Amino acid sequence: LREKALENVKSADDLKKLQDIRVNFLGKKGPITEVLKGMGKLTKEERPVIGQLANDVRNAIGTLIEEKRAEIEARLLERKLESEKIDVTLPGRKVQTGSHHLLASVIREVEDLFIGLGFSVAEGPEVEEDYYNFEALNLPKDHPARDMQDSFYITEDILMRTHTSPMQARTLEAHKGKGPVKIICPGKVYRRDNDDATHSHQFMQIEGLCVDKNIRLSDLKGVLTVFAKHMFGAEREIRLRPSFFPFTEPSVEMDISCFRCGGHGCSVCKGTGWIEILGAGMVHPNVLRMSGFDPSVYTGFAFGMGPERIAMLKYGIEDIRHFYTDDIRFLKQFDRA
Ligand code: PHE
Repeated sequence: LREKALENVKSADDLKKLQDIRVNFLGKKGPITEVLKGMGKLTKEERPVIGQLANDVRNAIGTLIEEKRAEIEARLLERKLESEKIDVTLPGRKVQTGSHHLLASVIREVEDLFIGLGFSVAEGPEVEEDYYNFEALNLPKDHPARDMQDSFYITEDILMRTHTSPMQARTLEAHKGKGPVKIICPGKVYRRDNDDATHSHQFMQIEGLCVDKNIRLSDLKGVLTVFAKHMFGAEREIRLRPSFFPFTEPSVEMDISCFRCGGHGCSVCKGTGWIEILGAGMVHPNVLRMSGFDPSVYTGFAFGMGPERIAMLKYGIEDIRHFYTDDIRFLKQFDRA
């Protein structure tokens, strides 16, 4: 019996067959169990001898099976390790990363420049009080210039801010009449416009404000010149045209010399040689006064620009809606992260 088991075990080549062998030889219906069951029919003298023999054979077969099992398992493990071998010389898979949105990059670029000029970055609420959005900016309730900006009202006194200029009033107020105040404030703004290639009901602005003793229009011009050259090339020149905003006096609009044709006239500047970039001016004395600053001591300048417009000019983007529709093919083109 032992010989036969040995042969069987030897030829077994997987765990399933080995288990069958165990059942056949050592199981409830196996020959050893049969022998042990028949012990009652044996004589007193035969019992211990046969019992001993049966146990020996059972143990021997059990050991054989265990040895074989260990052997098969070792072989399986080896084969598994073989098949899962890692080729460390294989080039890595490319990890898909996100990237900065083009508008975020433009804002970052402007922020970095102004931080270098001693400004700090401030952010304010998009849901704004009528007071900060209009009144504190020298736009009383019945002022006709409110029509310049169609607004989304939440209640009679609360609206989605139509520009980032309320941060002028908020920041001045927080400084309690003491300069210097030098901030830029990027953020989303909202206007009741029908969306098309050049209009969006939601877009972004970057506000700048600088208030201190002896701040003059020439300071504004100097800062804007640095800005224009930084963003559009060292050869850019700027010009200031008279304009109107209720919260600045005098008010100006700034043009840069066309970066495409250098001022001779082309399709980008529509033949004029100049491209309008932003609105600016000297902070109106009423604005200073309402926010707790003495206009006979302090003066300042402010400006507001649209990062979408800057990006569209700089990269030749013809539709403002590209910024908000999240087409990955559009966004990836500006992947500089
Ligand atoms: N808030 C103005 C606008 O949205 C821009 C501006 C800002 C003009 C600061 C002057 C000074 O059109």
